[in-house]
Amino acid sequence: MTNAWGEFPNVRMRRNRAQTWSRRMVRENNLSTDDLIWPLFIIEGDNQRQSVASMPGVERLSIDLIVKAAGEAKALGIPAIALFPSTDPALKTADAKESLNADNLVCSAVRAIKEAHGDDIGIICDVALDPYNSDGHDGLVRDGEILNDETLELLCRQSVVQARAGCDILAPSDMMDGRIKAIRQALDAEGFQNVKIMSYAAKYASSFYGPFRDAVGSDGALKGDKKTYQMDAANTDEALREVAMDIIEGADMLIVKPGLPYLDIVRRIKDEFAMPTYAYQVSGEYAMIEAASANGWLDGEAAMMESLMAFKRAGADGVLSYYALRVAKILNGG
Ligand code: PBG
Repeated sequence: MTNAWGEFPNVRMRRNRAQTWSRRMVRENNLSTDDLIWPLFIIEGDNQRQSVASMPGVERLSIDLIVKAAGEAKALGIPAIALFPSTDPALKTADAKESLNADNLVCSAVRAIKEAHGDDIGIICDVALDPYNSDGHDGLVRDGEILNDETLELLCRQSVVQARAGCDILAPSDMMDGRIKAIRQALDAEGFQNVKIMSYAAKYASSFYGPFRDAVGSDGALKGDKKTYQMDAANTDEALREVAMDIIEGADMLIVKPGLPYLDIVRRIKDEFAMPTYAYQVSGEYAMIEAASANGWLDGEAAMMESLMAFKRAGADGVLSYYALRVAKILNGG
């Protein structure tokens, strides 16, 4: 019986792979700087940089250095950066009130970046209470329970404060139910109809966030785990329901998180909803490649490029990656 796809020796798959130029001709996916979003960690002070032990090559930066980093990203063609504050533990409280301070680290950084770079680079701000909460949770906690509706009210206020500072895209990463609708309404009521919402629609309770919690200093603070609000790693249908709801509630863009271990989710969401869909190559994924590379167990740069191409292959429109700057330099010929 003949095979409709062709048969050996008429067909030799290796023919198209024989030269670099012909591999380039048949390449189905390409990675460009347009695909990159660079997450940055902010600290207090002037001209301050601190390395993050569990994320070699990643540094927390004071605002003046964040402004420079944003300039570097802009010059290399990276369309947007994502900001995360490493908040002074003394400012963390059970009501997470520092999240509403218009002069907190994130808001001050947004204003400084906008002043220096205007609309030449997009700024994404997380919406969640974990950088400000003495419990380390993304929502308010009472008697061990993460409160949903009470948290929504705070997330709305946090969103408006960040929008007022000049943030272009709000990225709720808290996984409370109903937050996209609540935040959209709050933004619109304050005249921020044009501020975008990039929803962490499918965010899993994952062990791969460990180094991030080290980077923002929430690891010591976190009591318990996040399994009552973040998704169960065993589920995929549930991700589609989360996304469907967020689209109806007004999400402009979606995030799947973590990245590489969840490429099946990226593919299902992209196929089902045809929405701008981003993947977050999270801190633990970065740490794994860096640790193996430092041990000489794999070629770190090759693994970095291959991992980013994998996101494109899965259908992602872009990737939040700590590698963004390094990759952009390579794509720019350096
Ligand atoms: C919390 C938040 C987390 C990350 C981004 N926002 C961690 C968490 O949910 O505990 C993780 C990012 C990473 O690991 O790189 N709102």
